[in-house]
Amino acid sequence: MDTFVIEGGRRLSGSLRVNGSKNAALPLLVCSLLTDQPVTLKDVPDLADIRNMVRLLGELGCERITTPEPTTLTLKVHDATQSHARYDIVRTMRASISALGPLLARRGYARVSMPGGCSIGERPVDLHLRGLRALGADITLNGGDIVARAPRGRLQGAKIFLGGQFGSTVLGTANVMSAATLATGTTIIESAACEPEIVDVANLLNRMGARITGAGSPRITIQGVDRLNGAEHVVMPDRIEAGTLMCAAAITNGDLVLENCPLDALMAAREVLSTAGVHVSEMGSGADPMRTTCRVTCERVLRPAEFTTQPHPGFPTDLQAQFMALLTLADGNSIITERVFPERFLHVAELSRMGAHLLRQGATVVVQGVRKLVGAPVMASDLRASAGLVLAGMAAQGTTIVHRVYHLDRGYEKLEDRLCAVGASIRRVDDKELGGSPTEG
Ligand code: EPU
Repeated sequence: MDTFVIEGGRRLSGSLRVNGSKNAALPLLVCSLLTDQPVTLKDVPDLADIRNMVRLLGELGCERITTPEPTTLTLKVHDATQSHARYDIVRTMRASISALGPLLARRGYARVSMPGGCSIGERPVDLHLRGLRALGADITLNGGDIVARAPRGRLQGAKIFLGGQFGSTVLGTANVMSAATLATGTTIIESAACEPEIVDVANLLNRMGARITGAGSPRITIQGVDRLNGAEHVVMPDRIEAGTLMCAAAITNGDLVLENCPLDALMAAREVLSTAGVHVSEMGSGADPMRTTCRVTCERVLRPAEFTTQPHPGFPTDLQAQFMALLTLADGNSIITERVFPERFLHVAELSRMGAHLLRQGATVVVQGVRKLVGAPVMASDLRASAGLVLAGMAAQGTTIVHRVYHLDRGYEKLEDRLCAVGASIRRVDDKELGGSPTEG
């Protein structure tokens, strides 16, 4: 298993380009199931989750057409008879649930293995199912699979409330919105997720001939059409990667320029950074606010901050661990509350091993800033927790060993190479070289 060996204490300086967004690319890729014409996506990151999604789509009869550009993916349905997303793939990637709506809308039938929980919490899909049932789908559970049928082969538009205990659902909104594009009549999704990735999916669907308005707001209206065409689309930049790189600049007291940075989608995070004494300034003007060039610098002493994770436009849960790592070095007490996935705190014990002072009570962690972190062997548990540990390792005194970086590889393309290009010291080694990975249990 791959492991990172990080020598801390190097200041980052230079320029990096933010890649295309994983969490946009995944639901964008499944839109190819909605048409028999080719769908082309540009700036798709090269990540394990994306490769898994392409494999799943291959099993669902959607062929990848070779293109000269490695970050461009063209997919085209060549066989619409196989509509079963098997457990083998779904268990490696929960986003497979996004295939449910498009399969049902286009083929009138879908069988998708029910995703289980994961290290960040239970992660139910009841809202996805509620939304699709409201569109007329007949849904049962059989052998761990969600089996869905559209009566007489077509869904019907409906008014749907998609709010849940923790707000709305991002992939649930993508699922219901994409299914409704081919339904008869009009669908209104109330309490829809407002995440920028939903806007990106709606933009592609509209390019394909869908009639969607209101994406990015809590009320989305979709007028069903009879068919969708192929289209080309550039994936939005990854706001979570951008936020992680901002923390990397700040925690190393560095000076980074980020290109292709979706600043408009990062207002809550930018506000917390500003409180902490981290300056994010836009360079030039008049650019697309979702693709800016900005410079990240910070004051010598970080200040404490408070934030609560919330659905967009609130502070994103996917940046909670990285900001916690940053605030471990602030001069004072910070308070972090997790309201999207209240159990998403596996990094707390690992950061503590590096000398962080963290006190967790339920869904809140008090971070008592310390003067320094000290390198230690730590274990990555989920994608964003791993990013938090890498950040901590870059700031710590001495050597940090991050085990199980396959979690990190699911969402960050060649992170170590990119960070090394701006001054970090991170080596990827096989853990056998270090005497094996610590065991769980
Ligand atoms: N929820 C329900 N019922 C549902 C669906 C969700 O109760 O049917 C709850 C969840 O348990 C959670 C909240 O609603 O408490 C929000 O979950 P959501 O459905 O929005 O999450 P998701 O769509 O499955 C996406 C991202 C996650 C990100 C969340 C929240 C992708 C592929 N995944 O998941 O990204 O944390 O939205 O913003 O887009 C990551 O990239 O590390 C990651 C976990």
